[in-house]
Amino acid sequence: MAASALSTTATTTKVWAVPRTGSLSNLVLQPQPLPAPAAGQVRVAVRAIGLNFADVFCVLGLYTAFQGSLVPGLEFSGVVETDGGDFKKGDRVYGTTRFGAYTTHLNADTRYLRPIPTGWSFAEAAAYPVQTITAYYALKELGVMKPGHTVLVQSAAGGVGLQALRILEAVPDMSVLGVVGNPAKVDFLNKSFPTGSAPRKAWKFISREAGVSFRSQLSTYVAAHEHIRGFDIVLDSVHGPAFQPSYDHLNPCGRYVLFGSASLAPSTISLSPTTLTFYSPMNVVRMLTLAYKFLTRPRLDPMQLVQDNKAIMGYNLIWLYDKLELMSSMYEDLAAMNLRAPHVGHQFAFDKLPDALAFFQTGQSVGKVVITVPEKA
Ligand SMILES: NC(=O)c1ccc[n+]([C@@H]2O[C@H](COP(=O)([O-])OP(=O)(O)OC[C@H]3O[C@@H](n4cnc5c(N)ncnc54)[C@H](OP(=O)(O)O)[C@@H]3O)[C@@H](O)[C@H]2O)c1
Repeated sequence: MAASALSTTATTTKVWAVPRTGSLSNLVLQPQPLPAPAAGQVRVAVRAIGLNFADVFCVLGLYTAFQGSLVPGLEFSGVVETDGGDFKKGDRVYGTTRFGAYTTHLNADTRYLRPIPTGWSFAEAAAYPVQTITAYYALKELGVMKPGHTVLVQSAAGGVGLQALRILEAVPDMSVLGVVGNPAKVDFLNKSFPTGSAPRKAWKFISREAGVSFRSQLSTYVAAHEHIRGFDIVLDSVHGPAFQPSYDHLNPCGRYVLFGSASLAPSTISLSPTTLTFYSPMNVVRMLTLAYKFLTRPRLDPMQLVQDNKAIMGYNLIWLYDKLELMSSMYEDLAAMNLRAPHVGHQFAFDKLPDALAFFQTGQSVGKVVITVPEKA
């Protein structure tokens, strides 16, 4: 069918669907009808899809917001195929959707689309919205960041972590301790954020090391800098054993922003009793380990916050989806910061999407994991 006919009438798209959640092996590539775009929508031929940790939780059935949905995926970039709103056929755009981005074509609400900045690839554009807005909301709206603050960033080489560093780099005099899971990520961060490349103080990257207490790693960083007493903001998406030492190193009036729980993420696990792997001894061990970690996760008495004069905040971007004014103002603030394009660490072809999620789930990725969709998918 010709592209113009495709774009104005109902057609069929290819999606990665999860008819039954519980395991990555439940993802199936299937055709799906796509109606003509409704008012306020344009059809987009998807060229790249950004992966998010939330996608893994969707497929495993651990994400309540996904319940009742079939196709995961929160962000994409591509080419507009129909005129609508401020967009014309042929425009290069990126955008967000409340699920459904694991597809070759979609009808996108124009309010959630933005033009791709000049010089950015489709992959870079698809890597931008969710993690950048997540990092900015955490730092600006919840963390109330100010020049001169000291910030602890967990998983600093991940998608959100790197965007947080880029934002912090744009604010004068910030001191930053970035924490990662292995020394190779430290090397990557030292190369990406070389000393002297921005007006900033006391930037250091460390890895959580077996046998070394995280508490002492934090104390060493604080003690090494005369102007630092502790952290004004903590960005924590790992939770787990790093929580209490990080909370204890928060300054009075400090803000602890919790927006994920990667330490409770199943690495390779099936939660689907309808698959054979569910019954394998290794899977049972992993489920028990996960259950143990969940039951022993850190907890805090709220009264303690009053006594300590510290704040803990949690949030999930998916519930901000309807707050369009807030989203727009964050996009504008970020555009004014003129951030570098996001770092795309890994690219997988559309037909290899389950492999990409399996890799992402291991926690070894650096930067963003992106799915590329061929032009004539
Ligand atoms: N609340 C929200 O709205 C929101 C939005 C986007 C993302 N998030 C959360 O923010 C975090 C970062 O998201 P992202 O998409 O940018 O992912 P990412 O940082 O690219 O990847 C997640 C990172 O988690 C760390 N990790 C720690 N323990 C892990 C484990 N047991 N298994 C796997 N990974 C583990 C790994 O980094 P290190 O080992 O280097 O620490 C891994 O690279 C995720 O926890 C995600 O759920 C929340």
